[in-house]
Amino acid sequence: MYILAIDTSCDETSASVVYQDRILSNIIYSQIKFHTQWGGCVPSIAKRMHLEYIDTVIDLALRRAGIKWDNIDYIAVTQGPGLAIALEVGINKAKELSNKYQKPIVAINHMEGHIYSALSKNSLGQPTISYTFPLLALLISGGHTELILMINHSVYKILGKTLDDAIGECFDKVARSLNLGYPGGPVIEKLARLGDENAYTLTVPMANSNDLNMSYSGLKTQTLNLITNLLGSDFSIYTKNFSSKLKNKNYLQNSNLNSNISKIIKDIAASFQKIAVKQLLMKTEKSLILLQEKYNIKVNDLIIAGGVAQNKYLKKMFKNTFKDLNILFPTSKKLFTDNAGMVGVAAYFNLNFNQNSFVYLENKENLDRVPNLKLTEIKLE
Ligand code: KG4
Ligand code: ZN
Repeated sequence: MYILAIDTSCDETSASVVYQDRILSNIIYSQIKFHTQWGGCVPSIAKRMHLEYIDTVIDLALRRAGIKWDNIDYIAVTQGPGLAIALEVGINKAKELSNKYQKPIVAINHMEGHIYSALSKNSLGQPTISYTFPLLALLISGGHTELILMINHSVYKILGKTLDDAIGECFDKVARSLNLGYPGGPVIEKLARLGDENAYTLTVPMANSNDLNMSYSGLKTQTLNLITNLLGSDFSIYTKNFSSKLKNKNYLQNSNLNSNISKIIKDIAASFQKIAVKQLLMKTEKSLILLQEKYNIKVNDLIIAGGVAQNKYLKKMFKNTFKDLNILFPTSKKLFTDNAGMVGVAAYFNLNFNQNSFVYLENKENLDRVPNLKLTEIKLE
């Protein structure tokens, strides 16, 4: 089964051809440089860039895969969650191509795509991935922070999620307040590596709540207050052009940076990152205990996916804390952030295992974007 997949949920225009769970091509046109100066994704710019690049990206995906329209069985497209006017571009293109080539459309939840990024293989069927259901998925990105129990393919129960900011958003806001550019996660991680994570005390949000929900807005405020207290309100002069300089690998070893101020900034980054990750560790552990004690569900596999899963400190902490778990990450670099490959693989599993998958051929006019689309959930008994 060959699927052409499209994702235009946020600020990446992407198309892919998959064969079953193998990604044959995965073209991503990142618009990040157009959004950077605004410190985040701007919907109207995203829409305009999607419209401009979508045809090229789709043509390239087919060409790289060496597949012609005749061989395509389905068109998969992200229906949500995402930015309404951005999603619309992908959905309209899917409808246009479906009419032209008479192919059914499969509507996919973007979050399900992120889960399947860890179960996707390359064109040679690599890597070998072993897992058993039920598994736990921790989705951490610029827009989401969710802990999901996956009972089987396309069978989910959301256990907990952030009640305010997403973890990636929090990294971005802390970085922005230090004038470190966007996206903030990678810069904070680099600085944190050189800092002392115990230098400053920040508290883990929701640590004492009995549920599995999370929060990042309070941690952001705590960190911004710390920055102002330590550096005053005019600290951004110290970090001017920091992010572009950080691209030079030797910059951080540079003696100019070993000033008091730069030590404080590195220590703030490390102290913040430690607590941001700690909240995830605590809620994951709580989930495993609750599932076992209340529902007699033993989980052996944990998927960690989304842009923030690229963080090496986070990876190390999860591996050290959950030694008995089989932890699965997206199987290639491209699969961490938004891409159509994961949407195609999610479509393949939906078509095979989900009798209620959303397939449109005759009734395409019913297909519309759903900016806050939720995963279809089951009840835990
Ligand atoms: O998955 P993604 O593209 O976002 C959404 O689809 O929402 O991930 C982008 C997010 C940004 O917030 C970025 O700062 C964060 O992932 N990120 C990181 C790292 N690399 C990217 N956060 C922490 N550490 C990193 N190394
Ligand atoms: Zn995403």
